[in-house]
Amino acid sequence: MRIGVLSGGGDAPGLNAVIRAITKTAIFKYGWEVTGIIDGFEGLLTPTKTRQLTSWNTRGILFIGGTILGTTNRGNPFAHKTVVAGREIVEDMSSMVINNIKELGLDVLVVIGGDGSLKIGSGIQKLGVPVIGVPKTIDNDLMATHVTFGFQTAVDTATEALDKLHTTAESHQRVILLEVMGRYAGWIALEAGMAGSADVILIPEIPFNIDKVTEKLLDRKKAGSKSSIVVVAEGAKPAGGEMAVREKASDGYVLRLGGMGEIVANEISRRTSFETRVTVLGHVQRGGSPCPFDRLLATRYGAAAVELIAQKKFGEMVSYQPPLITSVPLEQAISCLKLVEPEGELVKIAEGMGVSFGR
Ligand code: F6P
Repeated sequence: MRIGVLSGGGDAPGLNAVIRAITKTAIFKYGWEVTGIIDGFEGLLTPTKTRQLTSWNTRGILFIGGTILGTTNRGNPFAHKTVVAGREIVEDMSSMVINNIKELGLDVLVVIGGDGSLKIGSGIQKLGVPVIGVPKTIDNDLMATHVTFGFQTAVDTATEALDKLHTTAESHQRVILLEVMGRYAGWIALEAGMAGSADVILIPEIPFNIDKVTEKLLDRKKAGSKSSIVVVAEGAKPAGGEMAVREKASDGYVLRLGGMGEIVANEISRRTSFETRVTVLGHVQRGGSPCPFDRLLATRYGAAAVELIAQKKFGEMVSYQPPLITSVPLEQAISCLKLVEPEGELVKIAEGMGVSFGR
């Protein structure tokens, strides 16, 4: 058996841990070969970019961020974009990818990715190549798994930032806003906001009313608080308003969100006498060493992916259904995003403790 493995989409802490677990389990337990595909699906175009993975070259990478294989979140072979003479051309390169997978002698392709990469993986499976999915994204927005690897590390990073912002906010009597990632899901904002004791948490799932936000900040001041902390998910939006989009593709697809922290800060400054500051945490949330939870989850996912191959359960994605790692059909995994439930337990606990979601 020869396994091909690639990481697709934005990186997330724990990718190397998955690659290591797949390689070691395949080699030590089953005596199989593992071929790493370089730069996600781009490495399956002609000329292919691969590297043999061994127990030696996957040593010492468990705790290292990023991915030794490289990745890209702009390489969809079903709608591959190139710029020729200043014009963008979109082509379906999937048949080239399928041919190259055959030429490389791969019996199965393991796709470590978020919803975009798993959708591509599902498309490749439909074209006759056995595919196994591993759920990755700091956004934690995949429906068919309790949690994706990378998310917990991102929450840790955002929480640590909040701990630091509290002390400087208090010294200067400021309102400090922290903008965090998460795309259309507010998981990082909600969990880091709660763990980092934020006073206001703005998430995409609960469109906010800026008057409610300022009311909360003014109430805190009246009650004697010197400073306040507001967590803003990059996908947060005002009721009846739009998300802050940084970059769009020519077809209108939103490539990057960002800027809502600044917008909310300006509104707070305009409506109150508070001095505001904004920190955009950005890609710090994606980099660095995975936390122990993510190292373990990624390792379990990688080993489980190899077991699915051993059982010939192709077209499945490994899934964490505590306490077990099981699997679900890829189709189910990509059918819809997992978003924060506006009336869910954590939101209710937060509101019961006085945290404002701006509603
Ligand atoms: O999906 C992961 C993620 O980090 C999102 O939270 C964020 O919106 C996006 O990727 C940023 O992507 P890029 O790497 O293109 O800046």
